Amino acid sequence: MSADKSGQHGEGVLDRVLTLEVVRVTERAAVAAARLRGHGDEKAADQAAVDAMRRELNHLAIDGKVVIGEGERDEAPMLYIGEEVGTKQGPKVDIALDPLEGTTICAKNLPNSLAVLALAEGGSLLNAPDVYMEKIAVGPGYPEGLVDLDTPPAEMMAKVAKAKGCKVNEVTACILDRPRHAKLIEEVRATGAAIRLIGDGDIAGVIHTTNPEDTGIDIYMGIGGAPEGVLAAAALRCIGGQMQGRLVTNKDEQRERAERMGVTDINKKYSMEEMASGDVYFAATGVTDGNLLQGVRFGRNTITTHTVVMRSSTKTVRWIKAEHANFEKFKLD
Ligand code: FBP
Repeated sequence: MSADKSGQHGEGVLDRVLTLEVVRVTERAAVAAARLRGHGDEKAADQAAVDAMRRELNHLAIDGKVVIGEGERDEAPMLYIGEEVGTKQGPKVDIALDPLEGTTICAKNLPNSLAVLALAEGGSLLNAPDVYMEKIAVGPGYPEGLVDLDTPPAEMMAKVAKAKGCKVNEVTACILDRPRHAKLIEEVRATGAAIRLIGDGDIAGVIHTTNPEDTGIDIYMGIGGAPEGVLAAAALRCIGGQMQGRLVTNKDEQRERAERMGVTDINKKYSMEEMASGDVYFAATGVTDGNLLQGVRFGRNTITTHTVVMRSSTKTVRWIKAEHANFEKFKLD
């Protein structure tokens, strides 16, 4: 393969060597959290993942800024929004991270908790405040403009069925199991479609739409965290798919926070490209076992991790099973 004008391979502006670098970061966070999975202590597992992710991020040759992180500066001592990470000897990049997505599911050792990171050219990830976001997403292969947050759920299910070439009762929607979704759930069920209710973890929920043959999920709908929305959009940008997100702010304080972060139209429907543009890398390592990824395994002499890493400019999706023979390097975790 020949090098492009910037001396890098491939079409993106970021060096493709970052593909492996981001994997190291999510692997370290996942191993740290996995040591505490099933211990019933969400905070301890999350803190371990945060510490490990921050340590590893600071080894990367990037001039990174956290745009989606653990919270705002006054509430999160580490990996807060605006924190600068990396060695500064590299490209300017935006970082969206969730060192432990699904803290409750990790604490209970239930499926689908992940360590997640997205990295993109500086200025290309939406600076979303830590509020809720209405989300709707489907995987690749559908006609442009299929999903719209303002389409009534019954109409949406009919559209998905038509585009998929099946009956509505052969379509499955994934929705977070929350009282706020009672009406949505009722309306979807009334169409005859099936629902996969998940307890937590809507980044995995959105990613599951990209492979309905394996996951059984065709569409993701409902309200979850806005930071998780940006991370899910980054993943879909890499694999392909469609997504819309709209911030949900019920209090003045939340609207003010959104304004401070540069949001001018609070009712805006963000497209996937508006949430994650440019050259984007996304990596997720399984903490607990899930449909997407196996969780961390602690063997007698090795630690095994499973990671998916992807890049939007090439649309390459790599599944990496890593056997870490050197326990020493994970000691700090
Ligand atoms: P945490 O990892 O912070 O526990 O988030 C889990 C999660 O289920 C997300 O996937 C989702 O976006 C959000 O919580 C939904 O929020 P809530 O639990 O308040 O409904």
